[in-house]
Amino acid sequence: MMTEITKLTSVADIVKACPTARRVFDQHGLKGCGGEHGPTEALEFFAAVHNVDVDALVRELNDEMRSPSKDEYIYQESLGDFIYRRFFKAAIVIVLSVGALWGATNLLQIALGGTFLQVRLVPAIQAHAHAMIFGWMGLFVMGFAYQSFPRFKYVTLWRPDLANMTLYLMLIGIAARVGAELLRPMPVGVGLGILAAGTELATITIFIVIILQTARQSVEPHQIYEKFIFGAFFWFFVQAIVSDLLFFAKVTAVGVDQVVMRIALIDGPLRDIQLLGFGALIIAGVSQRFVPAVYGLGKARHDRQSLIFWLINGSLILDIASYELFFSTGNLYYSIGLELAFILMAIWALLLVMQIRVFAKTTQSDRSLKFIRAAYTWLLISMAMLPFFLVYGVLTHQGFSHAFLGSYRHAYTVGFVSFMILGVASRVVPILAGVDSSRVSSLWGPFILLNVGCAGRVVLQILTDFIPRVAFPLVGVTGFIEVAALAWWGVELWHTMNLSHTHRAQLLRAPLPLEAR
Ligand code: HEM
Repeated sequence: MMTEITKLTSVADIVKACPTARRVFDQHGLKGCGGEHGPTEALEFFAAVHNVDVDALVRELNDEMRSPSKDEYIYQESLGDFIYRRFFKAAIVIVLSVGALWGATNLLQIALGGTFLQVRLVPAIQAHAHAMIFGWMGLFVMGFAYQSFPRFKYVTLWRPDLANMTLYLMLIGIAARVGAELLRPMPVGVGLGILAAGTELATITIFIVIILQTARQSVEPHQIYEKFIFGAFFWFFVQAIVSDLLFFAKVTAVGVDQVVMRIALIDGPLRDIQLLGFGALIIAGVSQRFVPAVYGLGKARHDRQSLIFWLINGSLILDIASYELFFSTGNLYYSIGLELAFILMAIWALLLVMQIRVFAKTTQSDRSLKFIRAAYTWLLISMAMLPFFLVYGVLTHQGFSHAFLGSYRHAYTVGFVSFMILGVASRVVPILAGVDSSRVSSLWGPFILLNVGCAGRVVLQILTDFIPRVAFPLVGVTGFIEVAALAWWGVELWHTMNLSHTHRAQLLRAPLPLEAR
């Protein structure tokens, strides 16, 4: 029998001892998290993550326990509480099919052909990239936003039915675009491209409207991390338009040479908007709200959030403008702008790491921390590579080095973006499922495999410029190592998500209290 709640008491123990305490937690953003009893995390963890004064919360809960409110609390899960599971599961299915698995198959064909520049592989590589950005990053971000944004703002999700619809719209869009890439320029490919453009733009528009309407219900003052989130959504929308522009530029090009020229003109800026705009801002925003609080890392010595925000956006715009001018005029002068943009990118990466103190001593460690730290290590590696891109091209007499660019990009997409997704998901899913995080797998296996696969790809792709006979066969294997890692992690996460299904099924089978019948 619990007599006193302290900041070390778990949320689940409090709710079991005093079911009406759940109402207090709901006011601070718990809602359906953790199933019937809530997460097994300590109260101080809940308070830190939800930005609540822990001492006031302890007092409030002790008062509730001593004299519980007369109105019984009946736990009910609604669509807004578990919608994230559908998005996460869809993202796992995509990464293990048209995403990483297809990427690995493409890489094997590249290795067998002994060159990265194979025109016949372009449609498959572009389809893979599209599936990864919209289906892996996009669906994960949408699921996470639908789940956590309302809770961070202490409101409920606006129109969960519409949010649910965006999942199916996005899946239709991705399937249509993958088909379109493979079937262009045939009319059926063009038709699929039009369908993909319509559904994906509608999805992202509806998604942004849902989040804005959710935010409007809140009386909470705006916090600076929200600027990053909405900045990311802006680039999420812009990249969808540029992605369609690229598709229709390819479809209307005459001959292979013109297709290649148009890809060279649009593809680079598109990938930068997707990764260094949408990807960077969303990860930076979520990290600032999530990482220091979740791992007990404390406050940054110098708060440079606004500077980081403007550096991310400014360097991206400078990068795109310089690239386009350099490419269309051939004037070497513009490469200075490009180099400056790369240096500014390395600076924001360093400032971001210092801001969130991800390598500082933690008070709340957990299996996900190694993924988050690996993500930031890979960010620093990829951003340290970028300023050497032009120099490398000059020294190896290639101009723009495809191998170097591909290597840097993989360090960013798998090393930074994917490690971040793996880390955030492996932290939040057990909490949301109400599963004790000390009893789930440590995930060391996928962690090591993904690092080995990613490091192998990053190093070996560059080595294909120097020792192609050795590097090509080896690089061909790295994709499958990464797929194995993602599958291992995905199966574990899927299983943990299903534990909350089981939990819900048990709850539905349990007899309802008399008053609720
Ligand atoms: C996990 C295993 C992955 C494998 C095996 C893989 C494989 C590949 C290969 C072989 C290429 C062509 C490389 C080149 O031409 O240099 C490529 C390009 C690309 N991949 Fe991946 N990839 C993986 C993960 C990812 C992830 C997680 C993302 C995004 C978050 C991603 C996004 C891209 C992009 C944007 C491109 C560039 C496409 C273009 O040239 O326009 N990939 N990938």
